[in-house]
Amino acid sequence: MAAVTAVALQDLKSELSSQHQQIRAMLRSVATSSGAPRAEAFDQLRTFLAVHEAAEQEHLHPIPRADGGQDVPLIDERVSEEDDAAAGMTRLEALDIGSDAFSTAFAPWADAVTAHTEAEEHQEIPALQGLVDEDAVTAATAQLRRVPHLADSTRTAEPFADQLKRARREFREDD
Ligand SMILES: [Fe+2]
Ligand SMILES: [Fe+2]
Repeated sequence: MAAVTAVALQDLKSELSSQHQQIRAMLRSVATSSGAPRAEAFDQLRTFLAVHEAAEQEHLHPIPRADGGQDVPLIDERVSEEDDAAAGMTRLEALDIGSDAFSTAFAPWADAVTAHTEAEEHQEIPALQGLVDEDAVTAATAQLRRVPHLADSTRTAEPFADQLKRARREFREDD
């Protein structure tokens, strides 16, 4: 097994950070807009987040376990945050997007998603150092790079849970 190099990890981190910046910008757009632009921003966020989390769930979070059979608690925490974010998204989808109830529920959910992205960048990626194979990291980076195009080409207003499932299938089939 070729130990992962700093360069390979940096590539992965750059791709992840760039997508997280896009997610944080989309969260801000939803929070600061209203009416039709808010609905549009929410649809964009929903699809991008579904495709991004699908890529991570299929190709990033499983790396240590698939590679060395290692169980890494901080990755289990990230997976559990994604489950919480998905459940929160389902609750948001049930609300009227123009209502105060939506705005009240959206703010803490957006904060949790932001904290999740930061934990992936600052805890999960550094933890891969010395633990995993270089090929697994470069493969995960390649799959993550598909996210923006896939999100652009599949944007719909379908429920997040359905979009996540479909995107996970798409990433699995490409193995
Ligand atoms: Fe994630
Ligand atoms: Fe992420």
